[in-house]
Amino acid sequence: MKNIVILTGAGISAESGIDTFRDSGGLWEQHRVEDVATPEAFARDPDLVLRFYDMRRAAIQTKEPNAAHHALARLDRAWHGGGRDLTIVTQNVDDLHERAGAERLIHMHGTHLTAWCLACDGKPAWRGALLDRPACPECGVSGRLRPDIVWFGEMPYDMDRIYHALNRADLFVSIGTSGAVYPAAGFVREARMNGVRTLELNLEPSQGSRWFDEARHGPASELVPAWVDELLNAEI
Ligand code: OAD
Repeated sequence: MKNIVILTGAGISAESGIDTFRDSGGLWEQHRVEDVATPEAFARDPDLVLRFYDMRRAAIQTKEPNAAHHALARLDRAWHGGGRDLTIVTQNVDDLHERAGAERLIHMHGTHLTAWCLACDGKPAWRGALLDRPACPECGVSGRLRPDIVWFGEMPYDMDRIYHALNRADLFVSIGTSGAVYPAAGFVREARMNGVRTLELNLEPSQGSRWFDEARHGPASELVPAWVDELLNAEI
């Protein structure tokens, strides 16, 4: 086993107290996607969209990584040398993977902690609110910053890098994602077509569960550290 690609979703941050999207009581039960997570929604009612993301950005900064984030960071630190490579692709827009110490990380749906300036195309680090239409720290233009989040109908980030990693992987592991949103939901089939072994770690069977060679069901804070231990012990 040399090259590992790990996909994470909202389920890995659930035990840190961040709402998932599609579980009962999840974010998409409280808000309509069409109202807050599309470019059309932003054009129609920017205040509503900015307020939604300002609240989410403030909330994630009060949360801490859990045992699953820490276990992946431990694997990221350990999985070097002998041609071994690892890529963590997250759909999450929180920063709990990096706060746990993971470095080889791709945020395919963007992140709360950068903003995107539509005037200069800059991506300044951002922690505060966007609702009051602040100036871009890079170009000084006011009122053109939007959340650096990939909305429905927009292209996820770094797809070339992700498919490149998937195509040379030996193992694909999907953690805490419902398998409802493409292109991420299609990674397991892409991996299978390339003969890559596939493993699901999720609270319950995801929509794509049948595509995995193996599926383990339970909370990420238990499954992920156990799997990382297993992998590292087997490699020694
Ligand atoms: P979902 O809310 O669709 O799915 C979360 C998954 O995590 C579900 O299958 C749960 O069963 C599982 N889960 C919940 N708690 C868990 C726990 N403690 N341990 C392990 N698994 C647990 O979230 P995503 O699949 O991440 O996109 O959603 C994908 C995308 O849809 C998001 O990135 C977001 C959303 O719309 C954008 O905003 C662009």
